[in-house]
Amino acid sequence: MRSRLSLISLTALSLLQTCHGQTFQRLGACPSLGCIFPPDQADFLPGQRFDIRLEVHAPVNGSEARANTTPDSNFTFTIARTGAQAQSATTYFSVAEPRLETWNFTWFEDLFAQHAGTPSLVRVAAKAYRNVVLTEPGEYTATLRYYNGSTTVANWLVRDIPPRRTAKNLVLFIGDGMTTNMITAARLIAHKMVNGRYQSTMAMDKFPVIGHQMTHSLDSFITDSANSATALYTGHKSSVNALGVYADSSRSPADDPKVESIAEIFRRVCNGGVGIVSTAFIADATPAALTAHTRDRSRYGEVVDSFLNGITNYTWTNWTGPDVLFGGGAEQFFPNGRSFQGRDYYAEFAKRGYNVVLNNTALQVTDTSKKTLGIFSVSNMAKWLDRNVYTRNLFGQKNSPDGRNGSAADQPGLKEMTLKAIEILNERHGDDGFFIMSEAASIDKMMHSLDYDRALGELLELDDTIKATMEYLEELGQLEDTQIVVTADHGHGFDVMGSVDTRYLQAQGNDRRKRDAIGTYQNSGLSQYTVPDPSHNDTSLVYTNGTYFPANWDPRYTLFSGLGADPDRRENYTVHKDGVRVPALNRTGLPIDDYYVNDRDGLGGFVINGTLPTAAEQGVHSLTDVPVYAHGPCQDIFGGTYGNIDVFYRMAECLGLSQPGRHGNGNGNGRNGNSSS
Ligand SMILES: *[C@@H]1O[C@H](CO)[C@@H](O)[C@H](O)[C@H]1NC(C)=O
Ligand SMILES: *[C@@H]1O[C@H](CO)[C@@H](O)[C@H](O)[C@H]1NC(C)=O
Ligand SMILES: *[C@@H]1O[C@H](CO)[C@@H](O)[C@H](O)[C@H]1NC(C)=O
Ligand SMILES: *[C@@H]1O[C@H](CO)[C@@H](O)[C@H](O)[C@H]1NC(C)=O
Ligand SMILES: *[C@@H]1O[C@H](CO)[C@@H](O)[C@H](O)[C@H]1NC(C)=O
Ligand SMILES: *[C@@H]1O[C@H](CO)[C@@H](O)[C@H](O)[C@H]1NC(C)=O
Ligand SMILES: *[C@@H]1O[C@H](CO)[C@@H](O)[C@H](O)[C@H]1NC(C)=O
Ligand SMILES: *[C@@H]1O[C@H](CO)[C@@H](O)[C@H](O)[C@H]1NC(C)=O
Ligand SMILES: *[C@@H]1O[C@H](CO)[C@@H](O)[C@H](O)[C@H]1NC(C)=O
Ligand SMILES: *[C@@H]1O[C@H](CO)[C@@H](O)[C@H](O)[C@H]1NC(C)=O
Ligand SMILES: *[C@@H]1O[C@H](CO)[C@@H](O)[C@H](O)[C@H]1NC(C)=O
Ligand SMILES: *[C@@H]1O[C@H](CO)[C@@H](O)[C@H](O)[C@H]1NC(C)=O
Ligand SMILES: [Zn+2]
Repeated sequence: MRSRLSLISLTALSLLQTCHGQTFQRLGACPSLGCIFPPDQADFLPGQRFDIRLEVHAPVNGSEARANTTPDSNFTFTIARTGAQAQSATTYFSVAEPRLETWNFTWFEDLFAQHAGTPSLVRVAAKAYRNVVLTEPGEYTATLRYYNGSTTVANWLVRDIPPRRTAKNLVLFIGDGMTTNMITAARLIAHKMVNGRYQSTMAMDKFPVIGHQMTHSLDSFITDSANSATALYTGHKSSVNALGVYADSSRSPADDPKVESIAEIFRRVCNGGVGIVSTAFIADATPAALTAHTRDRSRYGEVVDSFLNGITNYTWTNWTGPDVLFGGGAEQFFPNGRSFQGRDYYAEFAKRGYNVVLNNTALQVTDTSKKTLGIFSVSNMAKWLDRNVYTRNLFGQKNSPDGRNGSAADQPGLKEMTLKAIEILNERHGDDGFFIMSEAASIDKMMHSLDYDRALGELLELDDTIKATMEYLEELGQLEDTQIVVTADHGHGFDVMGSVDTRYLQAQGNDRRKRDAIGTYQNSGLSQYTVPDPSHNDTSLVYTNGTYFPANWDPRYTLFSGLGADPDRRENYTVHKDGVRVPALNRTGLPIDDYYVNDRDGLGGFVINGTLPTAAEQGVHSLTDVPVYAHGPCQDIFGGTYGNIDVFYRMAECLGLSQPGRHGNGNGNGRNGNSSS
């Protein structure tokens, strides 16, 4: 399961990177030959630090080829707040003129060019202004002049956000890939209904305020978790694979223009506590985007270094590491080829005063006064269904976090990690407050694998965690001062359309007859998951200890569910008791990126050919808006429909992170703007 899982997550990424696909761009958010990052329409929190990248492009060949293939290195750049005189950026920010950089890059204009192997070549002249800041709310015009008369204008807005803090603490729950449809399905399998009335509801259902966020990115309408996390944490739209930066065209993934994240701002402005919790490998995009700044999310070693050391290449924060870092991903910690510079990051964290715990037993008894690193498995952590129902899947995995190829059988769940994070943060930062991001990562990962049962188990675990968090905060006397936000970073096209009689399906001899097992409308019936299974005595397969989890994961009548975009697969619509589902495989003797239905999956079911390119071995993200649930002192500002970046501005407002000032009065002018309060 472990190696299969890491294969799946890596391949999802390589799909994004190898450019199979329709639409190609020279450089996202730069339709002209002069590029400004942050680009036109960017918004800023007053006092938020950022870098500016300017590029002038000289296409050498392809459809945009110019007669003069030398990029203009004499470009100029000015900034003006509306109504004021434009000033050169060096004057405006009181910084030295940055050094001129030059490089070349290539890109494919379309699929024909890609298949023919004829990329278009572009030469570039560029500069980067590092660590600048705008503090005075209002509209700004940033103007790049190049090629003797061409201009690119970026209109920027520094939002007028009051610096008043209304919440001491903020807990942000992210259900990765979680949609309203999935919440609806999870409710159906875990909460009893009598004559059309639910007898209980989800913790999320009880939140007083709900909003809707749009997840599209800067330069594509479908996002990945890196660029959506960047939007949620920085208030800046970005590109697929980018963490806390705008993606530039340079070769290095370490020099892209950065924007400061909510964790960095909260630490700098409030000296508050920071907790990062995820069921993914901890270098994965959603946790990573709180401290990492690179356009390439797969730089896992650097990501782990950034948790501890912050930005090291272009230092502009005094980051000192989170108080709590809990998740999987031990492969970037023990010294081997996958940790940054081969270093032992357990030792690096310990040197900085962290307690290091590697299993749930140790987590439960850890000294809560100290900073704590908890890494509980190699790769992604075990799923709720395997930890609680099909527990033998925890063994024989070679995923122990000490790197000794044992099984990580003593793993905490999201609830145990989150409650312990709160306990530690409350003890360490009871006065300054804390910010915790807690991610149910495998809702997304299991949706990618078309393993709907595991995905819904992860979602129910998230809901259980939210419920327990609110109870614990109440017990600590912190609930009133804590803003809780529950949202997702994007969706998958999942829904439930009816039910399946799995016994009838198995009894039919051909695929067309098997489809008669699907019941729609009145034949969908009612959820069988809430009724304990009388047909077998093996209670280890029946999770009955929690009220709000299914009493039977393996009923005869299951959900007829699916995604809108799939690889080839065989569906028998029953739970995968032997571990995570693998719907499609490449075949010996055929190209390695050609995926067909896995003959050992969905036994007795019927084959459905995929709709995705044949290089896809799993499902993909979708366009849907995702919900935002809010409970706490500033809950009201989270109602309505808005962009994913607005989640950042609302959280920042709530925590009082805005630092407005007047330009030129010494408060917040360029590098001199190190105010703190
Ligand atoms: C840049 O400007 C200088 C003088 O202002 C000129 O000598 C030089 O040729 C210009 N370079 C380019 C690439 O236009
Ligand atoms: C960029 O491409 C030009 C050809 O147009 C070539 O002369 C030059 O050496 C290349 N520069 C770099 C840094 O690769
Ligand atoms: C552009 O030039 C590069 C380098 O000479 C070459 O590899 C590429 O095929 C050319 N592309 C087109 C579209 O002509
Ligand atoms: C810029 O353009 C103007 C008129 O279009 C021309 O007079 C001038 O010589 C040009 N300068 C350069 C450096 O090309
Ligand atoms: C710093 O940048 C270099 C490349 O410019 C990269 O190799 C290195 O990994 C970066 N270091 C970190 C900690 O990101
Ligand atoms: C980091 O801290 C030092 C010492 O407190 C201070 O002088 C410096 O300005 C800080 N740098 C940033 C980027 O906040
Ligand atoms: C859990 O971790 C503790 C402390 O590191 C260790 O002593 C113990 O043996 C571990 N337990 C298991 C089940 O691995
Ligand atoms: C369940 O247990 C009872 C008594 O222990 C036994 O009579 C019955 O056959 C068992 N049923 C199944 C399905 O194993
Ligand atoms: C069942 O739940 C109770 C109360 O939440 C707990 O004390 C007990 O340990 C749980 N039992 C199992 C088998 O998980
Ligand atoms: C399937 O693809 C992976 C790489 O994605 C490769 O390592 C493996 O050998 C391939 N398997 C077969 C049977 O071709
Ligand atoms: C459905 O297929 C899975 C393997 O993918 C298998 O474990 C399960 O037993 C099958 N269901 C039935 C009812 O045969
Ligand atoms: C699936 O596609 C293959 C061709 O790739 C075709 O031979 C087969 O009949 C299709 N199966 C179904 C169930 O549509
Ligand atoms: Zn995903």
